[in-house]
Amino acid sequence: MPSQNLTLNSFALDVHRGLSHSPKSLPCKYFYDAQGDALFQQIMTLDEYYLTRCEREIFLTQKQHILDLFYGDRQPFTLVELGAGDGSKTKILLDYFLSQAVDFIYAPVDISENILTHLTETIQADLPNLTIAPIQGDYVHTDFLDHDLSRRKILLFLGSTIGNLSDQETADFLQNITRNLDPGDLIMLGFDLMKDPQIILKAYDDSQGVTRAFNLNLLERINRELEGDFQLDHFQHCPIYHPLTGEAQSYLVSTCTQTVTLNKLSQSYIFEAWEAIHMETSRKYSRKQIKELAEQHHFRVLHTFSDQQKYYVNSVWQKLAD
Ligand code: AVJ
Repeated sequence: MPSQNLTLNSFALDVHRGLSHSPKSLPCKYFYDAQGDALFQQIMTLDEYYLTRCEREIFLTQKQHILDLFYGDRQPFTLVELGAGDGSKTKILLDYFLSQAVDFIYAPVDISENILTHLTETIQADLPNLTIAPIQGDYVHTDFLDHDLSRRKILLFLGSTIGNLSDQETADFLQNITRNLDPGDLIMLGFDLMKDPQIILKAYDDSQGVTRAFNLNLLERINRELEGDFQLDHFQHCPIYHPLTGEAQSYLVSTCTQTVTLNKLSQSYIFEAWEAIHMETSRKYSRKQIKELAEQHHFRVLHTFSDQQKYYVNSVWQKLAD
């Protein structure tokens, strides 16, 4: 990277790093600009994208049991949600907890101030009796839980977002959570389970091409924000699933030899014909792996909720004294 480009943001630096490296890759966290948010909303409504439907089913059918775990002892709590998104699934729980006169505060955490403001406004409009305390921050690194030490903390990390993290990132993330929790505090994590590979593949290769557009949107975003000249029709959306590792991976494959230039960075990147960019990994877990992950990080599994088809789980863990 030329040294005069001192003002480049982390997006530019991460894109440069990813396209310079072999194999090429782009960080999936950058999928979520305004366009990407809208496309992901659309993905969540697709029949083939079963994850959202399953998690919603778990909340709708088992909210009472979830509340028993969270509030059986009637201790007031702060419900911290990491990467809350549009909060539409969480609202099922929030609504139910309010109807049961539960003493709790909702604290959504998001890196984007914009999303937080929007989320807070829409949830507050729907649930006027809810106390919301939004926290702006990056949940893998920052201390997001030091705002109210008097209440028990219950942390939500839903939607199988944990599947986007590498093993190292998962370990760092759980370590950061552990630092921020007291013994007895709870976390509820959404995991997508290993299942028929064809079902998984279809979730990332939907018939309407929304997931394809979702991946290509990152190239469009690079074109827009970094003055790039990616030609979208020279890249093929290629999702795969590894049944051994449980990794669903998405690639954009260059269909010809081509050079892409990012004017803002004064950089060019050469693609060979059929060279791939790794875009995203969405890992699927076995139940045994979930239990092992909890134990490695000094949590006890209290309960693992599942949908009827056994495609997806929400696992509730309690932090043990260390
Ligand atoms: C939001 C990370 C859970 O990995 O399934 C959806 C994102 N990517 N379709 C996932 C996504 C392609 C999604 N997560």
